[in-house]
Amino acid sequence: MVVTVKNPEIPITEIEQSAFCQSDGDLKSKPLTEELDVGVRWQKLPVSYMRMSPEELDDRISAARHTLGKNLVILGHHYQRDEIIKFADLRGDSFKLSQFAAQNKDAESIVFCGVHFMAETASILSGDSQRVILPNLAAGCSMADMAQIDDVMDCWDDLSDQLGTNSITPITYMNSTAAIKAICGRNDGIVCTSSNAAATYKWALEKDKKILFLPDQHLGRNTGLKMGIDLSEMIVWNPFKPLGGHTPKEIDDAKVILWQGHCSVHTRFTVEQIRLAREANPDVNVIVHPECTMEVVEAADSNGSTEFIKKTIEDASPGTKWAVGTEISMVNRIARENSDKTVFCLDSVVCPCSTMYRIHPAYLSWVLDGLIQGVVVNEIDVDEETSSYAKIALDRMLSIV
Ligand code: 13P
Ligand code: SF4
Repeated sequence: MVVTVKNPEIPITEIEQSAFCQSDGDLKSKPLTEELDVGVRWQKLPVSYMRMSPEELDDRISAARHTLGKNLVILGHHYQRDEIIKFADLRGDSFKLSQFAAQNKDAESIVFCGVHFMAETASILSGDSQRVILPNLAAGCSMADMAQIDDVMDCWDDLSDQLGTNSITPITYMNSTAAIKAICGRNDGIVCTSSNAAATYKWALEKDKKILFLPDQHLGRNTGLKMGIDLSEMIVWNPFKPLGGHTPKEIDDAKVILWQGHCSVHTRFTVEQIRLAREANPDVNVIVHPECTMEVVEAADSNGSTEFIKKTIEDASPGTKWAVGTEISMVNRIARENSDKTVFCLDSVVCPCSTMYRIHPAYLSWVLDGLIQGVVVNEIDVDEETSSYAKIALDRMLSIV
């Protein structure tokens, strides 16, 4: 008999975002008890897993994978630790991983090594008989937390009162809760990722309506500029102020309304870091993620999703130099896998995405052992109504790009 354990309520905050910042770049996993010494609050798990060494966990995970065979698929986002990504059957950006979940209905269990909104999306897109598991439920995304459903509903109501219903197309970045994706599904909107944001803007602009872009103002602004929308036509909606901090006229005049959200990892990158990288290496190529600010994206040579960054550097000529503005676990891995090129992070103080980092091998081992024993821990489930509307917005994205 399979037993499903009820998920605990876990507060997901941005407070821990700088907990693992360092200047020597050594991110090798330690036993969980030692990692928790820095004062972070992660999901509780049996104490025996907390004491296991990385080597012991490595052996346990390998053995569990072997036992579970084809009943298990492990998906890994590029920002995962090396000790996790080595077990991924598929690595990718959030678009590639969601495509996989939509197309592969064979494995009984999908263990998603990434963050909560990614596992939620996989749960919506996967088959009815499949289960999706997030090894550590505290692995959220601080940007997704910046758009709370009640605040988004208030914004939607205010905009509808102000502009009339049917005059806005909501686009939500994948980095948002299923409830927000469902608002997009209900209101002729769409989901996007960093690899297809421009295509979703094009789709929305053809409808000749305003765009409400959630929750990353930077991706929204960078994409608007790419599509030829003037900066003066984009306003930022502050959920803590009446009418988002705008006059009715400002809202009337705007073409794009950007939610006031950001990624704490990517907003660390600066134009000054790019200047210093170019000064030290005149022939360097600067490549950044579009969650960086507009100024950083403009100063870089190119920008794109994690998969785009990985592929661009892989395809580059030997001997080329790359300064990268994205999460450090991924930058270190690209550097190691492209030893014929010089690859380094734009920021000398490196900060892993603290929520991606919460997928420690102890959690992966715990959930896999559970599956072997018939105990499902940390299953991600989305209620039927939310899931069906969110799926409409996700399917639109998958069909246009
Ligand atoms: P990608 O879709 O580019 O993988 O980005 C996801 C993410 O969370 C970046 O911060
Ligand atoms: Fe969220 Fe930023 Fe981490 Fe991506 S890097 S998962 S946007 S906090």
